Amino acid sequence: MKYRHAFHAGNFADVHKHVTLLALLAALKRKDKGFLYLDTHAGRGSYDLSGTAESAAGVGRLLGCEHRAAELAGYAAALGRWRAAVGARHLYPGSPLLAALELRAQDRGLFVEWQGPEAHALGAALAVLPGGPGAAKLRVERGDGLAVLRAALPPRERRALVLIDPPYEDASREFTAVAAAVADALRRFATGVFAVWYPIKEQRVAQAWQAEWTRAVAAPTLASELWLYPRDSRVALNGSGLLIVNPPWQIGERMRVWLPQLAACLAVGDSGGSEVRMLSQSPE
Ligand SMILES: C[S@@+](CC[C@H](N)C(=O)[O-])C[C@H]1O[C@@H](n2cnc3c(N)ncnc32)[C@H](O)[C@@H]1O
Repeated sequence: MKYRHAFHAGNFADVHKHVTLLALLAALKRKDKGFLYLDTHAGRGSYDLSGTAESAAGVGRLLGCEHRAAELAGYAAALGRWRAAVGARHLYPGSPLLAALELRAQDRGLFVEWQGPEAHALGAALAVLPGGPGAAKLRVERGDGLAVLRAALPPRERRALVLIDPPYEDASREFTAVAAAVADALRRFATGVFAVWYPIKEQRVAQAWQAEWTRAVAAPTLASELWLYPRDSRVALNGSGLLIVNPPWQIGERMRVWLPQLAACLAVGDSGGSEVRMLSQSPE
């Protein structure tokens, strides 16, 4: 495996994904009952941004904008709190650390990472996490995220948020595997909330994936897309997509407020944009 998230940490796709993740966690926390947070492709947790260019166009830009929507202000505040607590402004918290800080005593965090050194680094970053629900509620597992997804659901709490964020080195194969894994998980646990990140590199491919998703996954799915470059240019990552299965109440409505603000803040020209729409509704 060649993928190193350290090169991409804090880029515009991370910002899109992590603002959404915090909004989903806040929605699940509206109820007192505990839930499982499962991060199937967790990464190393903490990233040094000093040598990376991509973060300047992502989190760097975001921190320089005025945050009108509560979700964007909340993300900036969470980042600031974590950086102040660890005493390092050049570090960036990945999804496991952002989530762990939000989990309560009654919640549980399970983080899966395939690469040994990354899993080890994540364990160390979680061990020194200020606040959070305590080490007993957080577990790092080295292994295949989709295999752990099969084993972990349904959770004993009967409530779960699952983030699926693969590297997409073999993009079409991984997308098909993720769609099949979510369809399978829903057969065993129909009420789970799933957030699946995917790259937008070519419009044709993104559209085909959404069609494949609606055929495979029989549950209401919200599609959230943010793009900075023309959706057809083949040069690099043009945009970031998230499919949210069983979206909690008002997630879509709120996203229609904050996502355009985020797109405007991160814009690099006039070819960017954003879209939030229901891809599929409840099956009849
Ligand atoms: C995009 S990064 C994750 C970033 C992280 N979710 C975040 O937002 O901070 C993808 C991660 O998946 C890991 N990975 C690759 N294949 C995996 C697999 N089969 N199971 C679990 N993790 C895997 C990679 O090593 C990499 O750290």
